[in-house]
Amino acid sequence: VIEERCKSCGKCAEVCPYNAITVEVKKKMPAVVNSAACAGCGTCAAECPFDAIVMNHFTDQQIMGQVEALLEKEPDIKILAFACNWCSYAGADSAGIARLSYPTNVRLIRTMCSGRVDEKFIWKAFEAGAPVVLISGCHFGDCHYIDANRSTTRRMDGLWDGLEKAGIRPDRLLLEWCSAAEGARWQTIMYEAEKKRQSVSKEEIEK
Ligand code: FES
Repeated sequence: VIEERCKSCGKCAEVCPYNAITVEVKKKMPAVVNSAACAGCGTCAAECPFDAIVMNHFTDQQIMGQVEALLEKEPDIKILAFACNWCSYAGADSAGIARLSYPTNVRLIRTMCSGRVDEKFIWKAFEAGAPVVLISGCHFGDCHYIDANRSTTRRMDGLWDGLEKAGIRPDRLLLEWCSAAEGARWQTIMYEAEKKRQSVSKEEIEK
């Protein structure tokens, strides 16, 4: 916790699936993370409106750096996909192991949980010219961090609204659930995403 940034709003504590964060909201004390109870999903870091929580090894800077690097050249031909470590990323691996082909223009960013995907990563991706952004995680009930993917869904609802208001087609932001055993599903999701990418015009990307 970066104490000087923390405004004691308590959002991090609300979303933590492990009750690992304490915030004395009335006393305006900065959040305190019990590292023994924390499992490392990163949902608190994504949720904090003040960037006052840093997730080790998956910092904002590291993830933003990946978004920028992956979209540096020819962003219009790419699909940027965030995949959680335990299900979706493993689902992509399963597709590979089963030799299932899927579009080669998919660029993956691994996070421990879909709950780690901060709104600002998505805005950055669209700003950098991504036609389509996909967030994928475990099915409900399967999230490695109890129900952290419920926070993902709630955040996505806000994002779809925000995109619409900003004049960006909300359907350019995709949300899919895929388990580690669903290589064929991953393949289908990728082809659907590619179909969507092809439906996005250059004018829309540059808007
Ligand atoms: Fe996959 Fe949470 S670990 S969505």
